[in-house]
Amino acid sequence: MARRPMMAANWKMNKTVREAEEYTAALLPRAADAEEVDVAVCVPFTCLHEVGRMAENSAVTAGAQNFYYEDSGAFTGEVSAPMLPDVGAGTVIVGHSERREVIVETDEMVSRKTKRALEADILPIVCVGETKGERDAGGMWEKVSGQVRQVVEVLDDGESVVFAYEPIWAIGTGDTATPEDAQDAIGRIRDLLRETKGDDFADSVRILYGGSVKPENAAEIMAQKDIDGALVGGASLEVESFVELIGAAQNATTQTEQ
Ligand code: PGA
Repeated sequence: MARRPMMAANWKMNKTVREAEEYTAALLPRAADAEEVDVAVCVPFTCLHEVGRMAENSAVTAGAQNFYYEDSGAFTGEVSAPMLPDVGAGTVIVGHSERREVIVETDEMVSRKTKRALEADILPIVCVGETKGERDAGGMWEKVSGQVRQVVEVLDDGESVVFAYEPIWAIGTGDTATPEDAQDAIGRIRDLLRETKGDDFADSVRILYGGSVKPENAAEIMAQKDIDGALVGGASLEVESFVELIGAAQNATTQTEQ
């Protein structure tokens, strides 16, 4: 089954509203050219309203990088799932390793957020991945499979998410996983989803790779059979390099069709 690739930008804690406006204005016409690719831009909350407004009815989906799983109430500093579509967000990153490691989000919080995003009609991009120490000790699969299982458990029939396999040692380090290592982990995630959720789910679910994706390595990564796109930090901050990555995803679809 051909899966529609996705190229998702993760700006992290970068850009003012003005910078976000300039970026989005430049990106929209270029993203429209990549008809075979879903393009998402996950921005800081402060930029979301403006990016969401500009991206309305365009080829780009505005996204958030986080939210809290309660809908409203005494949670100072938090933003809830129903608040996201209100400002034009159609997608949200859940369980990014920087949140798991720095803000100490647990697997349980990640699965609650995943469920809540789906209920609020927002597509969750759920991140999983191991540290360098875990990989070196042979514990990559134990970590990643545990994270995936915890998310799968909360999904009802008909519900799906986008997964992003992001080895923590490859994020922001320039130290990308080899295409073979990325394919190996993502192929195993797809096999696990096949075992737990069946063929239809496993064949249609999109699994992205993330960790130092850049124009120079994107084509090789996108050519792997189980990799359906990328979640990109550093190389998404400039429109030009993000557009090149979208192009790499678009080319990968044309090559599979041939
Ligand atoms: P990077 O970040 O592309 O800068 O490595 C990826 C991510 O954290 O999603």
